[in-house]
Amino acid sequence: MTDQPKAILRDFPDHLETERLILRAPRPGDGAAGNEAIRESARELQPWMPWANPLPTPEDTEEVYRRMAAQWLMRESLPLILLRKEDGLFVGGSGLMCRDWNVPFFEIGYWVRTSLQGQGYITEAVLAQTRFAFDVLGARRIEIRCDARNTRSARVAERAGYTLEGRLRHFVRAVDGTLADILIYALTADD
Ligand SMILES: CC(C)(COP(=O)(O)OP(=O)(O)OC[C@H]1O[C@@H](n2cnc3c(N)ncnc32)[C@H](O)[C@@H]1OP(=O)(O)O)[C@@H](O)C(=O)NCCC(=O)NCCS
Repeated sequence: MTDQPKAILRDFPDHLETERLILRAPRPGDGAAGNEAIRESARELQPWMPWANPLPTPEDTEEVYRRMAAQWLMRESLPLILLRKEDGLFVGGSGLMCRDWNVPFFEIGYWVRTSLQGQGYITEAVLAQTRFAFDVLGARRIEIRCDARNTRSARVAERAGYTLEGRLRHFVRAVDGTLADILIYALTADD
């Protein structure tokens, strides 16, 4: 038994705002801008993101965003696109995967377009989603997972104040076929 309300009946906003960013659920029509950012970032995305191999076409990305819009409505996953506030430029993708609404427990993922790497946009987005998850969604646990070789990603988790809980050795096959160790970072509502 649980006292948690059904996920699909939960009401919460579909966008967040930070100092420099709008984070919002994908909508039909976002595919072209998203795909342009993905193509620009192929070299950084392809080693880590299975969905960037092979590179998607604009139609592929449009389809993915339409599916994400449906997932958001179903509360199966809460994907977000990141737009720069000042000019609407597509910055990257992030979002909260709903790992267990019963806890509730979420996992945050992210990528940034290469021309905007190194400016703190992803840390800003992770901090906003962390606050949203704890304050609005009632999260008790949030995870960030990354390949142990993905030092830029691990630095985001550390910069956002997450604690390294463990290393799952030989946990997945990386995109290049090698065995990868996965680092698990987490924050709990009690931290
Ligand atoms: C992982 C990834 C999102 C990290 O991007 P990033 O630009 O390093 O992360 P941020 O946007 O938080 O920027 C942080 C960097 O900007 C710098 N920075 C500049 N201004 C900043 C600000 N206002 N606030 C915070 N950091 C700032 C930081 O010093 C840091 O640089 P450093 O790591 O060299 O010290 C990016 O490398 C990426 O998209 N990789 C490919 C996809 C991927 O691997 N995703 C993760 C899968 S687990």
